[in-house]
Amino acid sequence: MTDTSAAPVAGKPVSDRDRVIIFDTTLRDGEQCPGASMTFEEKLEVAALLDEMGVDVIEAGFPIASIGDFESVAEIARRAKNATIAGLSRAALNDIDRCAEAVKHAKRGRIHTFLSTSPVHMKYKLQKQPHEVLEMVVASVTRARNHVEDVEWSAEDGTRTEIDFLCRCVEAAIKAGATTINIPDTVGYTTPAEYEALFRTVIERVPNSDKAVFSVHCHDDLGLAVANSLAGLAGGARQIECTVNGIGERAGNAALEEVVMAIETRSDVLPYRSGINTRMLTRASKLVSAVTSFPVQYNKAIVGRNAFAHESGIHQDGMLKHTQTYEIMTPESVGVSKTSLVMGKHSGRAAFRDKLKTMGYELGENALNDAFTRFKDLADRKKVVYDEDIEALVDQGIAAAHDRIKLISLSVIAGTRGPQRATMKLEVDGQVKTEEAEGNGPVDATFNAIKALVPHQVKLDLYQVHAVTEGTDAQAEVSVRLEENGKAVTARSADPDTLVASAQAYITALNKLQMKRQTMNPQSAAG
Ligand code: KIV
Ligand code: ZN
Repeated sequence: MTDTSAAPVAGKPVSDRDRVIIFDTTLRDGEQCPGASMTFEEKLEVAALLDEMGVDVIEAGFPIASIGDFESVAEIARRAKNATIAGLSRAALNDIDRCAEAVKHAKRGRIHTFLSTSPVHMKYKLQKQPHEVLEMVVASVTRARNHVEDVEWSAEDGTRTEIDFLCRCVEAAIKAGATTINIPDTVGYTTPAEYEALFRTVIERVPNSDKAVFSVHCHDDLGLAVANSLAGLAGGARQIECTVNGIGERAGNAALEEVVMAIETRSDVLPYRSGINTRMLTRASKLVSAVTSFPVQYNKAIVGRNAFAHESGIHQDGMLKHTQTYEIMTPESVGVSKTSLVMGKHSGRAAFRDKLKTMGYELGENALNDAFTRFKDLADRKKVVYDEDIEALVDQGIAAAHDRIKLISLSVIAGTRGPQRATMKLEVDGQVKTEEAEGNGPVDATFNAIKALVPHQVKLDLYQVHAVTEGTDAQAEVSVRLEENGKAVTARSADPDTLVASAQAYITALNKLQMKRQTMNPQSAAG
């Protein structure tokens, strides 16, 4: 149940509000964005959390894209308790069959098939005439319906599609058996009023529109994804496609936590309800940030570090008098609880677990033990352990849990008298190896040692360091992005020693890249 105390403004009673289907595509559209790839285990972990949180439909991946995608969609389908599990497929019949194969294990499986309908996409991308596209819509939906009862059809680039043609395609898709019709704003081009009118027109003009649920899918190129999604509901849509933290192609998708909390908080003007347990939003945000290594901007709505922070004296004064002076929802309603626990080297396991809970983390026994060991180690080296330090060490543990390459030790000789030298010990697939390497500076020497131990040819796209907190003993948080054959992965790591953090981040990125390489499907052109 969501916490309705979050909404200070009276709205319609929950039972009178229209139920909106929350379709999460973090594992498909989200994972598709450069650098946000997740491992098999990470995808299972995210899917389990989404399922528990009350997401209605989890789009688990694009089964034809890679063997890894296929396997993760199939395993998520097997494990899902409540959510419908969807797989994406192009209009090609073998795509649809592969998708059906992956979702068949689910209690409720959905095939989501899409085809471009805008003039620019039909002409340049598909190189097909409108009548050919229409035929493909019918053929693909019919094929999908032969496999499952729950079929979603998307008119890719729907918002730049000529309205008569869009209506014809939608009518044909419903006639062929589509039960959900998605009109995506693929390039993030539309505006709220325009998108609302689009749904009204399509729903009014398509004679069989009452036989399908209409869906919004908005990209954030103009920063309008959430506003457009809500406008689509006003136009008659009842499914929102969104992602945790708004990750996705280019500028991303509508953020799940934002659409859910907008509906929750402004039920007076948005008379809808979702099935999401809003108290799990922070946890979901942290998990997705940890496994993708995509940081959440500090001022991000709902889940940003500053979302409930009050800095100015006037605001703090107001908050002390009455929290509703400057808070339109409570931190507790999104899973952040206030804590007075100060953590240090004398803190015990129970206090640490409690602290994690208040920060929105819930770890399994092994992950908790591992995080606690690393916390103790950090507390020995650092006077004060801030929430940010704990966040960094837990995220790092989640991201590195299934690594094949592990850092055992590193020592670096640096200073004015070069060349700098790094001696490194790694465990690679259970085998311990040591190497010494020189470099143009200590970071270069460290990375050269990794290259000597695990020979590889990848491009270092990004190397960034920032301090997690203040002070000279602050942890350094290092982000590394590696690219290979157009596929990018990002990894983050934190440690009081910048070089250890650098090595750790590079190794995690390398692990992710190895995983990606192994699961790529050489036959597939999708991706
Ligand atoms: O943005 C888009 O159009 C998509 C479709 C595949 C639904 O992601
Ligand atoms: Zn999309």
